[in-house]
Amino acid sequence: MTFHNSIFGWFAKNKRDLPWRTTEDPYRILVSEIMLQQTQVERVVPKYLAFLKRFPTPRHLAEAETGAVLRLWSGLGYNRRAVNLKQAAEIIAQRGYPDDLSELPGIGPYTSAAVQAFAFNRDVPVVDTNIRRIFSRYFFAGKGTQERIDAKVAEQVPAGRSRIWNNALMDFGSMLCTASSPACASCPLKRSCAAFKKGTVAYLRIAPPQKKFEGSRRQTRGAILRLLLVSSLTEQELADKLGKNVAATRDIVDELVREKLAVRRQRRVSLP
Ligand code: ADE
Repeated sequence: MTFHNSIFGWFAKNKRDLPWRTTEDPYRILVSEIMLQQTQVERVVPKYLAFLKRFPTPRHLAEAETGAVLRLWSGLGYNRRAVNLKQAAEIIAQRGYPDDLSELPGIGPYTSAAVQAFAFNRDVPVVDTNIRRIFSRYFFAGKGTQERIDAKVAEQVPAGRSRIWNNALMDFGSMLCTASSPACASCPLKRSCAAFKKGTVAYLRIAPPQKKFEGSRRQTRGAILRLLLVSSLTEQELADKLGKNVAATRDIVDELVREKLAVRRQRRVSLP
């Protein structure tokens, strides 16, 4: 069996039912991909459903208050994503989708490709770490450079079937060809996989560790936004609740205000 047939065959039997797979609406796909950028599938599913119930179209999101959007976002983290998504919805509601989706705030080449594949079935590769890992092992025995791997991913997109192909690769990479415990024994590709044949399945360039969350600026930003979900507060009150000094608290509030995640009214800080 060929590479493609093996992956398609595996997917037919093992695919996950994910709510963003029953739609071709670019807005819904966009919401899912923005949520999935830094958050795991299981945590995204309920948030995705709640978000789309409340904001079913770009217009609903464009007309919402940022505070209401942040409220629904809470628990997902990386809250700037929510502000960017609302700004993107404002542009889409006014002028429709730009030809180049990466003109929208918060949308880089990966998200742009994912929306093109999953909403429009365009023949584009979607290259995330899971998909790179499959290609790295299968074609390069775990030793390809990123450039060569990405070129191979692009070359292998089957014409006219990008939507199902990229979904299949995502599931294959996150369920079978995983980073730390790949299920090679039951893998339909093992006889032709370069890494399996050479015994280099474990040989993967290791991604740099995620920055420590505990005690980080990101943690404090998250804590401030959670407090503001309940009520507006002065900087002094925020500092007391966080156990930080006022200057350090003000510095982070300044940043949140610049990013439109918070506003100052008189001496109080609140959600926008
Ligand atoms: N991670 C990023 N995009 C995804 C998708 N569409 N399905 C599953 N996991 C994903």
